[in-house]
Amino acid sequence: MANVAVIGAQWGDEGKGKVVDWLASRADIVVRFQGGHNAGHTLVVGNQTYKLSLLPSGLVRGKLGIIGNGVVVDPEALLAEIARVRAQGLAVGPETLRIAENAPLILPLHAALDQAREAARGARRIGTTGRGIGPAYEDKVARRAIRLADLGEPETLSARLDELLLHHNTLLQGLGAEPFSKDVLLARLTELAPLLLPYAEPVWERLDEARRAGRRILFEGAQAVMLDVDHGTYPFVTSSNTVAATAAAGAGVGPAAVGTVLGIAKAYCTRVGSGPFPTELHDETGRLLGERGHEFGTVTGRPRRCGWFDAALVRQAVKVAGIQGLALTKLDVLDGLPELRVGVGYRIGGESFRHLPAAPGAQAAAVPVYETLAGWQGSTRGARSWAELPAAAVKYVRRIEELVEAPVILLSTSPERDDTILMRDPFEG
Ligand code: IMP
Repeated sequence: MANVAVIGAQWGDEGKGKVVDWLASRADIVVRFQGGHNAGHTLVVGNQTYKLSLLPSGLVRGKLGIIGNGVVVDPEALLAEIARVRAQGLAVGPETLRIAENAPLILPLHAALDQAREAARGARRIGTTGRGIGPAYEDKVARRAIRLADLGEPETLSARLDELLLHHNTLLQGLGAEPFSKDVLLARLTELAPLLLPYAEPVWERLDEARRAGRRILFEGAQAVMLDVDHGTYPFVTSSNTVAATAAAGAGVGPAAVGTVLGIAKAYCTRVGSGPFPTELHDETGRLLGERGHEFGTVTGRPRRCGWFDAALVRQAVKVAGIQGLALTKLDVLDGLPELRVGVGYRIGGESFRHLPAAPGAQAAAVPVYETLAGWQGSTRGARSWAELPAAAVKYVRRIEELVEAPVILLSTSPERDDTILMRDPFEG
């Protein structure tokens, strides 16, 4: 029995929530391995809508949730989210949620620096969620982060705060923002310690045991391949590796334990924040896609930029992340459009490319090369079998498979959990 890693194959918001929820119901353990509370997953279960940012989605299905060491954990955001879902009737506590003892923490100074830097960038801003994700990862690799286990050692905490504040207060003051007081931070972390430490453990050990006992593990990615700090549209990316390989390092398991890699892609494309988006539409069709697809950020509420499906981009994501099968979502949003376009490559300064080059100038200048496909008049909404789909919709999906060089193994035709066409169960490998 394989484990499964689920990752976004575009710029995020591909509708991971629904797919992850379906997979979580078939898993024993759900693990978050990167990102932080910049992610937003909406899960509709019965008459309840859960909006999760940091908690693994499996909790909603009563499965053990694990937050791996690759995640940056904001204690205040975590406790607030736990309180929110508890108020909705979910049992979340140390019995159902475990957090890697070596996970780095996000402190208020990280969000302050994130926001101050974005303000200073002006028109060149990245469009971050402002939640301190980037600065927290920077502190991790700079070896000055406070990690969950440090909350149990007052001397470590005090020494780490000295080092952190030396760095951050200098920067914050340089950017015209308020510095932070060590006493205030230390007092708050001391208050938080007994609330958080009961969740802490070496999760790698639990995952190793689970694996040996034949338990099914679902690795739940956040953001998406084109926001990966190495493989994405740098610098307009998040600060973690979002590819499936990160599931191993970000949870403390070997690469072979990650299992089947499932990529999620929308039948069109969206992006929030700044950065290149070659197939973006600034016309009526773009507006229509946004309206029909309810394209507003879960975390920040920002309207998403919309455009045609970019097969060259998704093919690149398939290759760099080792995606073995795709879940294609929101096909119904394209219903009734007279014709559809799919990006198959780019023209940049008179040259043809099958991929998006790394240099920012080239990315900004990339003009998509389109293939035009027939639209369909009938509805795909709620379809649960291929037979229910209009012929042109089947053709569209088949053409996408050819272009991205990966099979579509799951097709989602509405936000409802059961409106799904499943070709292959990823847990079966
Ligand atoms: P950060 O992760 O807050 O540093 O933001 C960096 C970039 O990633 C920005 O363009 C954000 O809009 C984008 N981003 C971060 N998290 C998500 C997500 O869950 N979905 C879509 N975009 C995201």
